[in-house]
Amino acid sequence: MSAEKHIVLSNGVSMPVIGYGTWPIPDGHAERMVVAAIAAGYRLVDTAEMYRNEEGVGRGLRSSGVERGELFITTKLSQRWHGYQEAQEAFAISCRRLGLDYLDLFLIHWPNPSLGRFVDAWRGMIELLQQERVRAIGVSNFKPSHLQRLIDETGVVPHVNQIQLNPWVTREAEREYHHQHGIATESWAPIGKGGGLLGDPVIAKVADARDRTPAQVVLRWHLQLGLIPIPKTARRERLAPNLDIFDFSLSDDEMRALSTLDKGKRVAVDSDRTGL
Ligand SMILES: NC(=O)c1ccc[n+]([C@@H]2O[C@H](COP(=O)([O-])OP(=O)(O)OC[C@H]3O[C@@H](n4cnc5c(N)ncnc54)[C@H](OP(=O)(O)O)[C@@H]3O)[C@@H](O)[C@H]2O)c1
Repeated sequence: MSAEKHIVLSNGVSMPVIGYGTWPIPDGHAERMVVAAIAAGYRLVDTAEMYRNEEGVGRGLRSSGVERGELFITTKLSQRWHGYQEAQEAFAISCRRLGLDYLDLFLIHWPNPSLGRFVDAWRGMIELLQQERVRAIGVSNFKPSHLQRLIDETGVVPHVNQIQLNPWVTREAEREYHHQHGIATESWAPIGKGGGLLGDPVIAKVADARDRTPAQVVLRWHLQLGLIPIPKTARRERLAPNLDIFDFSLSDDEMRALSTLDKGKRVAVDSDRTGL
């Protein structure tokens, strides 16, 4: 019934299977939410330069009373740092804001293919990995075509790709590519940003039958697919329930029912067109 609480990345690093997303939590609010999330049991915390809350997140990590080694901290570099030296500078600046001397996972936030510099940024990430400043490196919003360029031009496969993924955006082709290349898939907007997805009648029916919330059912779906969801909430009372997904499981039929809700391009972000 229960599920593993960690997955092992392709370089042997252990990563929690669910984390706490911090966008769009303002810096001034981030400290107390991160403290509350860690107290509720989260060990993976996801931020980014772009969220403008790394300092607040860092304060939260320090105030949490949990040792650094037990936490798994991810941040992401923005497009202005796409370059070999620039990626290393971005690391140093994010670490300073977070008050950390290493990261567990550092990601390129968007491929921004029109800039044509994500491979250079990737070379900078590889350097950070070799210098053991980061335990794992990855990307976000990369399509298989972008990933293939990284692999062809550097020979280094990302450990993680963080992409928009939920039962309305199932990204089957991307997941298959990740699986073939040993890339762990992390899901952003895992509960569809709390919008209409949670009211989907198929999900509501499963939630009713299992006496669980729709969010718990969807988060459990991620877990059973081997994905790493990072749900965000700014409401303390939702922190623990969103994490309370290890003592039940969805049947094969229920998994299939959720997996057939994909709405295709209508709701899926296209990172060849969009990139912050
Ligand atoms: N890499 C990227 O480009 C990228 C893009 C977007 C997000 N992210 C990361 O992914 C994280 C999660 O994505 P997201 O925040 O966009 O979407 P999400 O986690 O799917 O949804 C968050 C929304 O759901 C609501 N919510 C949380 N728990 C709920 C529950 N149990 N029942 C009903 N509603 C609930 C929240 O409202 P309340 O706060 O009011 O509870 C919030 O509005 C972000 O925080 C960020 O760390 C990454």
